[in-house]
Amino acid sequence: MSDHSMPAQVPDARGYYGEYGGRFVPETLMPALDELTESFQSALADPDFMGRYEHLQATYVGRPTPITYAAQLSKTLGGAQIYLKREDLAHTGAHKINNALGQALLAERMGKRRVIAETGAGQHGVASATAAALLGLDCHVYMGSVDIARQRPNVFRMKLLGAEVIPVESGSKTLKDAINEAIRDWVANVEDTFYLLGSALGPHPYPLIVRTFQSVIGIEARQQMLDEVGQLPDVCIACVGGGSNAIGLFHAFRDDDAVDLIGVEAGGLGIPSGEHAARFADPNLGRPGVLHGTRSFVLQDADGQIRETHSVSAGLDYASVGPEHAYLRDMERAFYTTATDEEALAAFQTLCRQEGIIPALESSHAVAEAIKRAPTMPKDAIILVNLSGRGDKDLDTVIHEIGEDA
Ligand SMILES: Cc1ncc(COP(=O)(O)O)c(C=O)c1O
Repeated sequence: MSDHSMPAQVPDARGYYGEYGGRFVPETLMPALDELTESFQSALADPDFMGRYEHLQATYVGRPTPITYAAQLSKTLGGAQIYLKREDLAHTGAHKINNALGQALLAERMGKRRVIAETGAGQHGVASATAAALLGLDCHVYMGSVDIARQRPNVFRMKLLGAEVIPVESGSKTLKDAINEAIRDWVANVEDTFYLLGSALGPHPYPLIVRTFQSVIGIEARQQMLDEVGQLPDVCIACVGGGSNAIGLFHAFRDDDAVDLIGVEAGGLGIPSGEHAARFADPNLGRPGVLHGTRSFVLQDADGQIRETHSVSAGLDYASVGPEHAYLRDMERAFYTTATDEEALAAFQTLCRQEGIIPALESSHAVAEAIKRAPTMPKDAIILVNLSGRGDKDLDTVIHEIGEDA
């Protein structure tokens, strides 16, 4: 950990995390973002709103999610003890519900009955469709057609839950393009529509809203480590797509200087191949830029055109990263590394066999880092991995990658 001093509060009033964040949107959206900021702040200060959110988290989502000691995995690796924060056990199978529920309650509070969302892996789409069904809102989910093909079970789930899934055929037909279409929809229908954004990105106040609703992960995990293990972890590890599960875990540990915070990006086919979604790890392609209304690290070519990305996991397959991660990295408060498709698939299989847990391919990137790191650490050291979701949605992909007899 560095001893750089960090400002007590990020973001600042304009939504900046150091030089990252802000609002880069068409003028028509500025009043909507102001309205959203005000509603969010008043909701946070309203005990009835927060009480309802927390009640639903307990009685509908199933929180708190437990931490599980990965006994066999820790023993086999022979180093640090590994604990898993079990967001895979949250209703709908991933952390995405924490944010979707919070934002859907905000939409209801603001009197907006139509919600739109984008989705990559489908988990945010399913979470949005679920929260919309619960609150009786009308839900439309934009999803790239490549992602529709690789996450079929989630597409069907969204439809069962009453949402309309709108295929996006532009660009790489993945998350970036789905966000483009959702923003277009919002610009056209801003009066009656709430944009339920799924990760810690986009224009201010979205990264702050998403961090707030996801910070329950770290708040719970920190207390559970103290209560059940008797100490804080030495290292917290989370995968980083847009960055919501990672910021949700990291936030509660921000001031615990002895706890290292490690984010894992999608290394795809390896950094030299250029076929990845590692915004921080590739000095040739990743540098500050603006995408989807926020300034952060963006994979781009020499002309500033957004690069196509690749990852075996749809949820990490995105050219930019939440602005707070760029800031935490600059401050050396968090460190970022990568796991390749191959490493994530191997970690996926290891966790299935050794712990009886089928992790999401996104989460498998975090597990891969724990598998690399644990043997280099002493036996009394502790690693906490955020198991952001379950892997049922990924079975088609895994069968395609490693075959049915794996
Ligand atoms: C299970 C799971 N983990 C992680 C992610 C990555 O998103 P984020 O970086 O916002 O947590 C996704 C995205 O869809 C996901 O479904």
